[in-house]
Amino acid sequence: MEKEIVLSVKRLSKKIGKKTIVQNINFDITKGEVFGLIGPNGAGKTTIIRAIVSLIHRSSGTVMINGKSVADDFKTTIADVGGIIENPEFYMYLSGMENLKQFARMSRKPVSPERINEVVAQVKLTNAINNKVKTYSLGMRQRLGLAQALIHQPSLLVLDEPTNGLDPQGMAEFREIIRSISSQGTAVLISSHLLAEIQQITDRFAIIEKGRLTHIEDMQQVNGGSTPTYLFKVADVALAEGVLRQLNYPFSLDDAAYIQVNTAEDQIPAIIQEFVAHDVAIFEVSAKKVSLEERFFQLTEGGNV
Ligand SMILES: Nc1ncnc2c1ncn2[C@@H]1O[C@H](COP(=O)(O)OP(=O)(O)O)[C@@H](O)[C@H]1O
Ligand SMILES: [Mg+2]
Repeated sequence: MEKEIVLSVKRLSKKIGKKTIVQNINFDITKGEVFGLIGPNGAGKTTIIRAIVSLIHRSSGTVMINGKSVADDFKTTIADVGGIIENPEFYMYLSGMENLKQFARMSRKPVSPERINEVVAQVKLTNAINNKVKTYSLGMRQRLGLAQALIHQPSLLVLDEPTNGLDPQGMAEFREIIRSISSQGTAVLISSHLLAEIQQITDRFAIIEKGRLTHIEDMQQVNGGSTPTYLFKVADVALAEGVLRQLNYPFSLDDAAYIQVNTAEDQIPAIIQEFVAHDVAIFEVSAKKVSLEERFFQLTEGGNV
């Protein structure tokens, strides 16, 4: 079954004066999908996001949310979107909870106290929610921003460079929260120039270069598709090669004396068993990951990919 499309962007362009900032951008995001916009600073990511949520005027193109055009019905469509586009503003001398209640009062949809508690738990702020925001770390403020963006149960969450300035622990917490949000069916659009971060969080990504969308790719493809490469570090390479040859597993050797086997993950236990049965001592088995950074440079500089 086709997945439900939550956001559809077609032929989106933005000109400022005579300058074309972004041109002919096309992509869809489905229910529960985390979609990344990647590209260097100045590529046009923020402009695309601001044009999608109508913070800036679109020069041309259409944006549909749940099948409705944002241009035709701004109020209904935008009510289904939550986002952190700029740094969220809070009343620093009020608690996180007071800020959320204040925000809920301004919401078009009624927000129940239970719903507020639910989002607070989802962003892991339950213990700190009654403390003043001025005592919060950057990561906590960012999670309060997420709570605010999610309070009205949007079907699309839009985040522009959300992990800027977060420390590694803050980033890990953020990833976990995004995973839980998307697993409940919310579509997430996230822009970043931090490729390692995007690799860990998105299902699919688009590369934005000089205002154009040049590639769309599944992250699973970057991670090796259905037959990724596994690296085996063994004591006796010749012995291991013999076992693999006998069993018809295609393999190669890399410089670091790891044996590389291209196979589906479900074959790994059988290979390990065969190695053990033939007295091949195994020190390490790991999946070889291409970094998104490598893939990004292949796609953007390598030419004919
Ligand atoms: N209001 C504006 N007026 C003129 N140029 C702009 C304006 N906003 C953005 N730009 C230019 O458009 C390009 C894309 O910017 P932006 O969307 O912020 O990129 P990114 O978010 O990928 O870093 C940049 O060259 C930027 O200088
Ligand atoms: Mg930007």
